[in-house]
Amino acid sequence: MSKLSVEEIKAQSRGLRGRIVETIESGATHFEEEEYQLMKFHGSYQQDDRDLRPERRKQGLDKAWSFMIRSKMPGGRLTAEQYIVHDDLAEKLGNRNMRLTTRQGIQLHGILIGGLKEVIASVVSTGLTTWGACGDVVRNTMGPASPIDDVAHRDAQRLTEEITVIFLAKATSYAEIWLDGEKLDLNQTQDAPDEIYGTEYLPRKFKIGISIPPRNDVDIFSQDIGMAPVVVDGVVTGYNLWVGGGFGMTHGMENTRPVLAKPLGFVARPHVVSAVKGIVLTQRFHGNREDRKQSRLKYLVEKQGIEWMREQVASHMDAGSRIEPLVPMTFTTVSDQIGWHEQGDGRLFRCVHVPQGRIEDREDGRHFRSAFRELAENLGLPSIVTPNANLIWHDIEPARREAVEAVLKKHGLPDESQFTAARQVGHACVALPTCGLSLAESERVFSGLLDSVDDILRDLGLADEPLLIRMTGCPNGCARPYNSDIAFVGRAPKKYAMYVGGSHRGDRLAGLYQKSIGFDDIPAAIRALLEAFARDRQPGETFTDYWGRTQEIGPEPDPMQFHLEFTERAARRAESGGATEG
Ligand code: HEM
Ligand code: SF4
Repeated sequence: MSKLSVEEIKAQSRGLRGRIVETIESGATHFEEEEYQLMKFHGSYQQDDRDLRPERRKQGLDKAWSFMIRSKMPGGRLTAEQYIVHDDLAEKLGNRNMRLTTRQGIQLHGILIGGLKEVIASVVSTGLTTWGACGDVVRNTMGPASPIDDVAHRDAQRLTEEITVIFLAKATSYAEIWLDGEKLDLNQTQDAPDEIYGTEYLPRKFKIGISIPPRNDVDIFSQDIGMAPVVVDGVVTGYNLWVGGGFGMTHGMENTRPVLAKPLGFVARPHVVSAVKGIVLTQRFHGNREDRKQSRLKYLVEKQGIEWMREQVASHMDAGSRIEPLVPMTFTTVSDQIGWHEQGDGRLFRCVHVPQGRIEDREDGRHFRSAFRELAENLGLPSIVTPNANLIWHDIEPARREAVEAVLKKHGLPDESQFTAARQVGHACVALPTCGLSLAESERVFSGLLDSVDDILRDLGLADEPLLIRMTGCPNGCARPYNSDIAFVGRAPKKYAMYVGGSHRGDRLAGLYQKSIGFDDIPAAIRALLEAFARDRQPGETFTDYWGRTQEIGPEPDPMQFHLEFTERAARRAESGGATEG
């Protein structure tokens, strides 16, 4: 039998059930392709330890299969109890660490097939879920991380929670498989109708995030729908909406590329949810279902145009509501507020930098996991996962500030005020050994790379420059490399494509600078760029602005920007007599 497409698998899955239960009960170590695809909707990626592959192959053994389970929490909010339950699960059934994700979730890795049910049921028992954390649905809804007590932050969090509930798939298979919900007859073809997803779900994953200007921590232009509240006289009057952002691409495949979300317009607060529904439904009914590499909303918006998109969305919106022109607003940074800050309600929050979002007791003496466990267990503090994969501890009475700092110090956590600005905001995706798609290392080599970058920055007097550096193990772009000042995207072991020219504000895409650079050559390439910057910058100019002033790039880049190097593009322009590339 030929392999089923993901569309066929969804359609035949009887509400995303497939044969998940039968496979687990059979004692298998892993799922076959169809259930593997369905498991994503339930919040899990099937993986194997890629470090062990060669040795196991030599010994004639099967791959070392395990599962990543991703929990969703709107706006990254966690109670102390929810944090503790995840930490317990990592200890008992996972690989004794947790990964904060850049979509404000938590990933547990290394779960065996027999542990799936206990992990998922335990997450759900805390009031969170893994349902829809992966798969062709609306993923975890992101919101501004800083717990500031003002109308904009309160409303944005309320909206992320509203959206989360509306876009949970209605199928009862999740409850049935993981939560001992009442089992339906497996011959039954579907559950109650799902007005958002039907039986076909969306053509691809769908991402929504809200930022509050001037802080674009959520990187709204990388989302399918980016939103930002407009506040007038202390009231949130509505939201600006951008649509069709998305970063995944494939090396060498010229019809794939990263895209920044485009302005849709302003929608009054009472109608925002209907506009969001309208965008999601437009993608469900019109998105490409033939080719998964062309199926994200970004390609639909590019093909049909933003005017068409507006008309479609408006046709789904509440009667009498409309899409108005965008209200001007400015973003200045994608960074988090590391360190201590006031919430505005008399209490404080402390944002702790977590290298690559990995919560573990590190061999170098920095025991993030022990420190955080103590903050949750002994001080009972709630936390927030940030879009830069850091962790904010909040609702801290000023009198307890010293107690919190003492816990961080006791477990060897560093003083982030000594970090370069680049280290505070840099990020790398998971990649090896768990991610089955990675072509090169990312998380495991990034801290070492930043050590070299720190030396260069200090050498050149640039330690406080807001330089955004990101790395991924493959072009899918999970750590959002394509809008960074400088990015490295894995091509092959120890080989990366190098991109330059995004923005620390998240509002401009980088371009391909070098198709392939060896890992060991990266520091020299960064030094060359930064030396030129230090020499040629105008007073007060950031690297982002310097690059924008001196290079030909813009917010509406040609697709070739991601496939041809700067020099090749310049040569093409010269050949065509200076005309822009077609
Ligand atoms: C387009 C194709 C993509 C595929 C097939 C894909 C697949 C994956 C896989 C397999 C993982 C799990 C890795 C592990 O934990 O071992 C992962 C993690 C993740 N992906 Fe993607 N991804 C894609 C694009 C993106 C993009 C464009 C973004 C965001 C802009 C994104 C955001 C994330 C996040 C937040 C994680 C969690 C780990 C982290 O924070 O790095 N993904 N992805
Ligand atoms: S960017 Fe690629 S290597 Fe990194 S986590 Fe995503 S899919 Fe895996």
